[in-house]
Amino acid sequence: MAVQHCRLGVNIDHIGTLREARQQGYPDPLRALPLIKEAGASLVTVHVREDRRHMQEDDVRRLMGDHRLPVNLEIAPRQEMVDIAIAHSVDRCCLVPENRQELTTEGGLDVVSCDDMLVPIVRRLRDVGIHVSLFIEPSLEQVNAAHALSVDSVELHSGVFARTYRHDAHAFETIRACAAHAHSLGLACHAGHGLSYDSASLLARIPHIIELNIGHFLMGEAVFYGLRHVVEHMLCRLKEGRESGIRG
Ligand code: PXP
Repeated sequence: MAVQHCRLGVNIDHIGTLREARQQGYPDPLRALPLIKEAGASLVTVHVREDRRHMQEDDVRRLMGDHRLPVNLEIAPRQEMVDIAIAHSVDRCCLVPENRQELTTEGGLDVVSCDDMLVPIVRRLRDVGIHVSLFIEPSLEQVNAAHALSVDSVELHSGVFARTYRHDAHAFETIRACAAHAHSLGLACHAGHGLSYDSASLLARIPHIIELNIGHFLMGEAVFYGLRHVVEHMLCRLKEGRESGIRG
């Protein structure tokens, strides 16, 4: 039987964080696209936060113009953010809770208690053909509430699992049960947050999880595995410059 591979969405927000540290356009997160595409990623994920701390609306415009990979836009469930998704006709939209003080998305959307507020937002996105996902805590109740909203997929928040899987199987079993339940309801199931090589490969064992979205760990590892190359390249350029200075 053919095994369906687990898709990878690469979240490039942290390159935007590095750019915004200087606010002079460098490094451009879009330079990651050919690299992640050649490496086999299925989509690029970006979160345009209300405080614009990393990705900007113009990045979304350029990503959609680039057409290299489908774009998964994470946004807070607010009409002005939905306007951005619709204006740029992104491929996918993942609705996430947002709190200005947080360092990262700390939990899933509480769909059980905020479903009325989500109805017009989900409808607007789906009416224009955008695939809608809800970033939720792994609980059967949240999956049921997401299903009632007729979204296309759920993304299970894997933060607790990522912190505890080494000494406790409970979070893994919870995610496995939620993924199976989502699948039985006809919802595509994704997962993400806090994942590393080890924790992601464990989640990839769950056949009903068809996609993982990973950012922080990949960008952290890229610093180390790419750093040697850029220091070597810089030293080459310094040598070239020095030699051409000596030649006059
Ligand atoms: N999925 C969602 C919905 C997120 O908000 C984030 C963080 O922006 C991720 C996945 C990726 O999490 P991490 O950067 O910890 O891999």
